[in-house]
Amino acid sequence: MYLTDTEKRMHDGELGPSLKKAMDILVAIGEIYDAPRLIDVRSVHISGISYRSAGEAALKLAEEFASSGNRFVVPTSSNIICVDCSGGATLDFPADFVRDQKRMLTLFEKMGIIPAHTCTPYYSGCVPLCGEHIAWSESSSLIFANSVIGAWTNRESNPTAISSALTGKTPLFGYHIKENRAGSVLVEVTCDITESAEYSAIGFSVGSRVGSHVPVFVFQKSRPTIDNLKSLGAALATSGDVGLFHVVGATPEAPDRETAFQGHKPSEKLSVGQNDLRQVFEQFSKKGDRKIDHVMIGCPHASFAELREVADLLTGKKINTNVNAWICTSFAVKCVAQRLGIIERIENAGAHVLADTCTVAAPTKQMGCNNMATTSLKAAKYGSEKNDMNVVVGSLKQVVRSAIKGAWSELS
Ligand code: F3S
Repeated sequence: MYLTDTEKRMHDGELGPSLKKAMDILVAIGEIYDAPRLIDVRSVHISGISYRSAGEAALKLAEEFASSGNRFVVPTSSNIICVDCSGGATLDFPADFVRDQKRMLTLFEKMGIIPAHTCTPYYSGCVPLCGEHIAWSESSSLIFANSVIGAWTNRESNPTAISSALTGKTPLFGYHIKENRAGSVLVEVTCDITESAEYSAIGFSVGSRVGSHVPVFVFQKSRPTIDNLKSLGAALATSGDVGLFHVVGATPEAPDRETAFQGHKPSEKLSVGQNDLRQVFEQFSKKGDRKIDHVMIGCPHASFAELREVADLLTGKKINTNVNAWICTSFAVKCVAQRLGIIERIENAGAHVLADTCTVAAPTKQMGCNNMATTSLKAAKYGSEKNDMNVVVGSLKQVVRSAIKGAWSELS
């Protein structure tokens, strides 16, 4: 792979061990994917800094990177962590998790991270430009940046994202090349859908069918909002290996079908309707015991509009005393919502608005959560697989109703 003089000096260790390590990682990845050279990136988003999921190995790696005193050379935001360290938490997190997470954060702060601690950095002022090369990790964040914003990124990992943040570079391959951003599978959505839980179900259904292809959606009866697209992308990247999608008439690289496919014919056509949605929800439907002790709303982290919708649904209601109801968002969005009394309205009902973390990253089991209701297929899959919870998925109204009743509610 071709390296410029400065890149060679970094690679040879002349500029210190941290930059050498970063360049070793980027060159190794570049060689695996036949990248001809490195390119400059304009921003980085780093996941894998939750102590609970990443553990001592990630801490050690961060120590190595931080040891030379190098700082990130492009704006670099952080993904979620395993506790709410915003200072406004109404929940007690286990002290050992708080301590270990802080050890990890100190290292990233030393390198100059923007402490957004969210999977929706684009709602916290960390927004790339359309057509800009970036190096983002965390599947829901990067698929949103690629698809909805139109920035260009591969699916980065924690080590490659840190390496890009320290060097400002990434190997030229994959979604950094225009031809690889062409749509390949046409997905026609024939049913009328209105809410994010339904977009999440569509994403989950399509993701499991298209693998790593680039789906191009045509919504025949609906027009998705930005929050709907956030849910669609997160689910696509959960059941499949999807890092980029297009929506005709809504996302920047798909003003029309022909442009979305870059003039090619789709290799496959799928049709998604009400039955497909039902099948997805049935995979996570509660049979037998209908008790709910945990509710998670805000996967990916809730927007201002989503927080307001939850507050409206909870006004004048009380969460069941057996239910730990978590509304997860970023600190930045929480601050704005606080100014309008939205957080107070949610918390007066007995729910907790958490910044920085989420059910999947937090030590939820240790906090007594076993039977979860959620609006997100991503939270459902990882909540059941990683956190070993019984999970049910439904509409926002169903989930809020269940939080109030303490049992799963089959309302339409
Ligand atoms: Fe974000 Fe956690 Fe969901 S990281 S996408 S809220 S599982």
